[in-house]
Amino acid sequence: MGTASAADHVHVTFELPTRAAAELAATGLATTVYSGPTGEPRASLLESVRGASGIICLLSDRIDAELMDAAGPSLRVVANYAVGYDNVDVAAAKERGIVVANTPGVLDNATADLAFALLLATSRRLVESDRFVRAGNDWKWEPDLFVGLDVSGGATLGIVGLGRIGMAVARRAAAFDMQIVATGSRASSPEAAALGVRAVELPELLTTSDVISLHLPLTPDTHHLIGAAELQAMKTSAVLINTARGPIVDELALIDALRDGVIGAAGLDVYEWEPTVSKGLLSLPNVVTAPHIGSAGRATREKMGSLAVQNVTAVLAGRPAPTAVAS
Ligand code: DGY
Repeated sequence: MGTASAADHVHVTFELPTRAAAELAATGLATTVYSGPTGEPRASLLESVRGASGIICLLSDRIDAELMDAAGPSLRVVANYAVGYDNVDVAAAKERGIVVANTPGVLDNATADLAFALLLATSRRLVESDRFVRAGNDWKWEPDLFVGLDVSGGATLGIVGLGRIGMAVARRAAAFDMQIVATGSRASSPEAAALGVRAVELPELLTTSDVISLHLPLTPDTHHLIGAAELQAMKTSAVLINTARGPIVDELALIDALRDGVIGAAGLDVYEWEPTVSKGLLSLPNVVTAPHIGSAGRATREKMGSLAVQNVTAVLAGRPAPTAVAS
């Protein structure tokens, strides 16, 4: 088992949270940190990684063959500060013997909380109501003022991709007495059964759910998994929640569906052309938006930072990364 060599250099493309930064400093590894506004420009990144042994990066950093080659043969580990790693060319890393790691597990609850917040906000029209009150509208109690979906006690939640985060969403839904249907390998597990989850195929989930929440990684197979046909299959009152990755949904088809009453509402934390959000979405009252903040809990972000640091230091010391991605 080796130790990190004095020659090892780790480049971090953003300011790590305080505790994680201290943990990295305590390793004694030489580090460089990009401290400009978030999103190290490509030219700077290509320069910063030259000769690096490890990179700690953001989901918005494109870690491709060009970047790995700019780093050169010293590069042994790429630790993404995110559970999703569609920004990393894992095949190119494998060819070069570079370990890719992510941050699974530590952000499940934070992301499920946000998914559920969007679920409640859209279903009960909370943001529309807030805008209405702030606009100084005259109002009194009215039988049909901002009537929405009854979430508790029987609404059906469809979880597309029941993995760790989906399971955390299912636990919340079970506490709200929702019916739960799900796709994914864990949908038939004992843990899912204990929460009352019924495993179904996607077509059934689309037609039977009142709320549909996406919890899949972005891969070539999941790109535009939800397009015009899938939106058409949903109930006209359906609410779509996406805290996974934007391109899983065909955003232009979603705008049409929301505008034309094909579905009822959407709660979105992620976007097809992130960080750009389609103007068409922003003009619709039945959309609640957030700027990709699923994991944005203070403690969660510290845990993500610590895990990224552990992944880098383990590999540089010749040990397996605690959370390497399968390649
Ligand atoms: C992730 O981890 O992939 C989230 O999208 C951001 O934390």
